[in-house]
Amino acid sequence: MAQRSKWGTNLGFLFAAIGSAIGLGNIWRFPYVAYDNGGGAFLIPYFVALFTAGIPILMLEFALGHHKEASAPMAFKHIDSKWEWLGWWAVCFVLFGISLYYIVIISWCGNYMFFSLTHAWGDDPNTFFFCEFLKVPFNQTLQAPAVESVWDITGFRWPIVAGVVVIWLINWLITYGGIEKGIERAVKIMMPLLFIITAAIIIWALFLPGASKGIKHYVTPDFNKITDLKVWISAYGQIFFSLSLGFGIMIAYSSYLSRNANIFKNSLIVAFSNSFYEVCAGFGVFSILGYMATKQNQEIGEVVSSGIGLAFVAYPKAISLLPFGQLFGFLFFLLLMIAGISSSISIIEAFTAAIMDKFDVPRRPVITTICVLGFLGSLLFATNVGLLWLDIVDHFLNQYGLITVGIVEALVIGWLYRTDKLKAHIVSNLGLSGTHHKVFNYVVLQLWMYCIRFITPVALGIAIVHSLIQEFSESYSGYPISGVIVLGVGWLLITHIIAFELSGLPWKVERTTKSE
Ligand code: PHE
Repeated sequence: MAQRSKWGTNLGFLFAAIGSAIGLGNIWRFPYVAYDNGGGAFLIPYFVALFTAGIPILMLEFALGHHKEASAPMAFKHIDSKWEWLGWWAVCFVLFGISLYYIVIISWCGNYMFFSLTHAWGDDPNTFFFCEFLKVPFNQTLQAPAVESVWDITGFRWPIVAGVVVIWLINWLITYGGIEKGIERAVKIMMPLLFIITAAIIIWALFLPGASKGIKHYVTPDFNKITDLKVWISAYGQIFFSLSLGFGIMIAYSSYLSRNANIFKNSLIVAFSNSFYEVCAGFGVFSILGYMATKQNQEIGEVVSSGIGLAFVAYPKAISLLPFGQLFGFLFFLLLMIAGISSSISIIEAFTAAIMDKFDVPRRPVITTICVLGFLGSLLFATNVGLLWLDIVDHFLNQYGLITVGIVEALVIGWLYRTDKLKAHIVSNLGLSGTHHKVFNYVVLQLWMYCIRFITPVALGIAIVHSLIQEFSESYSGYPISGVIVLGVGWLLITHIIAFELSGLPWKVERTTKSE
């Protein structure tokens, strides 16, 4: 079997892992989730979730990949061949699901980067986005897309297709170069750039008139909210998605680390950088919303929104109001693109590593095949109803796929594998001795094990049951049942079938040294 690639430096690995974690979710999702779930008080459930599930699972994934020197399917196979499918499922549903539409959204950002230069949306960004850019069937009364039209496909949106070609090409170029010469080299440029642009945007935003009004809404704690179960579920969901857990990504990335890497320290650095970034991003986002509300004499509640609504409707409005708005808009959408691409390459790598491990094939043909297939898959979301499709698929993959992998992963490692070997592996590179070693082993790692065995599965279990109850009480966002079943449930099933098929194929090279 060919020698496994390695990161050139630990910093390269950190940039890549942080790049995967910091994505669209940090910029357009976290600030709204925090605002909607108790403002400053949300930080309590958020940090509890970070310490009881985020860091433990991240450390688990890092330790597993590093210890086994394997991608997710191979790592799980070496625990017990019964569980190989779990690794495949993680990498399949993220590649054949999330990456396909994630790249379509990055393509929208690319288009909007240029639209910013001319304020192409005029004075009605909402109608421009839905009716002119996406051309999605529209409900005039609600001023929103008509959800009943999921099957009314009239054709491709060519500007989106063009963006999709470019973004897949960039992903191909980066991952084709391999770990050190491709991904590491790219993230060493992208991540510093990302931090500089973010800092520039936040500082710019903080000095705008009305910024403090927005920030007040972002941070003012509403402690009543934290007794609400929903808020806790949101905290666990946000942490899980934001740290790219349950995708097999962190397992693959850590399998390329040098043998003496410090897993404990790396996990803390990645987790805290990601959280620090999203909490800071919130200040930027809410300063802008405060500015907009002040300029238009509105309440924050009237201008605030999340996700697509924030980036493609609220922000364009702000960009039109701002002095030097063109530059601001260009930088903002460039930032989203960088954050998105540093995440999408990690998806491609997680799948590539799995295929290379199992079939012992060279990287380049695998990367090219994946990118071509991925591009074709993305086209499904580049039609006039792409927005509706991606909304449904995203909901199902995140609420069920991702969380299921998280639960099973924690249970398999915590109960079947008993974490002892991973514990020993984590301690081995810490350079601790004597009392420090004992304290670390018996306190920190013991707590870690309890989180993996009990807290993570219970918290994620509650989240999934809660989602299921809602699913049965009303069709997701009012979509027709056919759309929900075919696109949502269907997508989950298809990725599952691909995963089972792949795990059933024979291994090209049986590696025995790492087996238990
Ligand atoms: N962590 C990314 C974010 O916050 C999400 C993501 C990364 C999704 C990688 C899939 C794969 O946006």
